[in-house]
Amino acid sequence: MKYILAIDAGTTSNRAILFDEDARVISVAQKSFRQFFPHPGWVEQDPAEILATTVGVCAEAIAQAQVDRKDIVAMGITNQRETTILWDKKTGRAIAPAIVWQCRRTADRAEAMKDAGYGDMIREKTGLEVDAYFSATKIAYILDHVKGAREKAEKGEVLFGTVDSFLLYHLTGGVHRTDISNASRTMLFNIHSLDWDEELLKLFNIPRACLPEVLPTAAHFGDTLAEHFGISIPITGMIGDQQSALFGEQCFEVGEVKSTFGTGAFVLMNTGHAPIISEHGLLSSCAWDIGEGPVYAMEGSIFACGSVIQWLKDDLGLIASPDETAALAESVTEKNPMVFVPAFTGLGTPYWDPEARGTIFGISRSTTKAHLVKAALDAIAYMSADVIDAMEKDLKASHDRILVDGGVSHNDYLMRTLADAIHRSVHRPALVETTALGAAFMAGMGCGLYKDIADIKKRASKAQVFAPTGADLSEERDRWKKAVAATMANHM
Ligand code: G3P
Repeated sequence: MKYILAIDAGTTSNRAILFDEDARVISVAQKSFRQFFPHPGWVEQDPAEILATTVGVCAEAIAQAQVDRKDIVAMGITNQRETTILWDKKTGRAIAPAIVWQCRRTADRAEAMKDAGYGDMIREKTGLEVDAYFSATKIAYILDHVKGAREKAEKGEVLFGTVDSFLLYHLTGGVHRTDISNASRTMLFNIHSLDWDEELLKLFNIPRACLPEVLPTAAHFGDTLAEHFGISIPITGMIGDQQSALFGEQCFEVGEVKSTFGTGAFVLMNTGHAPIISEHGLLSSCAWDIGEGPVYAMEGSIFACGSVIQWLKDDLGLIASPDETAALAESVTEKNPMVFVPAFTGLGTPYWDPEARGTIFGISRSTTKAHLVKAALDAIAYMSADVIDAMEKDLKASHDRILVDGGVSHNDYLMRTLADAIHRSVHRPALVETTALGAAFMAGMGCGLYKDIADIKKRASKAQVFAPTGADLSEERDRWKKAVAATMANHM
């Protein structure tokens, strides 16, 4: 039996999962790391902590598994995308905290680009809406704020990478590479020519010398130093976490859709070998390349999902565990007078409002925590439904089901509400760790363990299906839309 180690470097925790060649989970290790919120709307992480927890969970998963280490034939890395790290080439040390994808500190830079009329050109080349979400303005910010950084970056002495790249650099002892799925979330990568775009590099004032080499998602990226895990493991798959979940969910046909409910929620549709440039605020990115040319995905990115539940638990102390939320929501039997728009770090697809912040409507003396919990779960369902509606407008076609995964997809109330809101069945696989599974599949393709997609299809898992109950949520969705419009119209 051969094994593949998948690293899932997420927004709030890092996980390592050892899969056997039949895609069965052999061992799992997970460790959270700190989030820093130095100003409202700003989010930072410590790159050294990201690295240390990643190495730690890998070592733990390998030790737990008690397999012969030489049977671990490949490693796959999947990761929170866009989060921006710049580090010193010589020491490997980050020159500033990681600016996390949720961070809004560069919203004014992004707005200035839009105001100057670059939106269409950027959308055409990168498939992205101009927004602080992506890496470009974050890189420029660090280069502008850390003394001497720009000069060093011009000489290739300071390097940029998203989390995949930073981990690869350290695990291999200096390989500076990324893959097309992560590169396509920087707003500097031309998704048609599959290369860094000179015009965009000039526009954002970013030196090419600091950027990683870009490979397909299944490729030999490098080998881990033996000092880390006692053996050298070839890293043969790297893929952004949302594209990885699309692969892990086996959305191989054009038109297949998945939604991952993690820290944020991300709805992706396979659009085949051609990107679709959206007219309704959706994004297009490279999904993967397994040696047959790039496959693209259309995406709706929702910035708040698990983070909302974490806020209810850790900051408000309203619940002791996320498991309580479904029953609390179900305990509200009347129409919920409350609408909660969780725009903690602005609103993403399809609204795109970086300055919006959270609002709650309809509080009265009879409001209870159950109303707020239900409003939070409904908001997650309705944001997803708004994205799916926008996708259908672009495609002028509809799809009959949606596949779901990620920690928050365990919530049955949320899954049922989503099914009712979109009038389609929601399929939840037995293994909701599809992000890590996608990276394991990718690494398996990259090292030749799997020959083709047919080989991967043999390893599909059974799904639980949530069919629409027939409940009519149109009134609730109208109220939600009104609340979003009011939130966007009233920045405080
Ligand atoms: O684009 C951000 C996304 O990659 C983060 O994913 O699962 O950490 O919420 P997640």
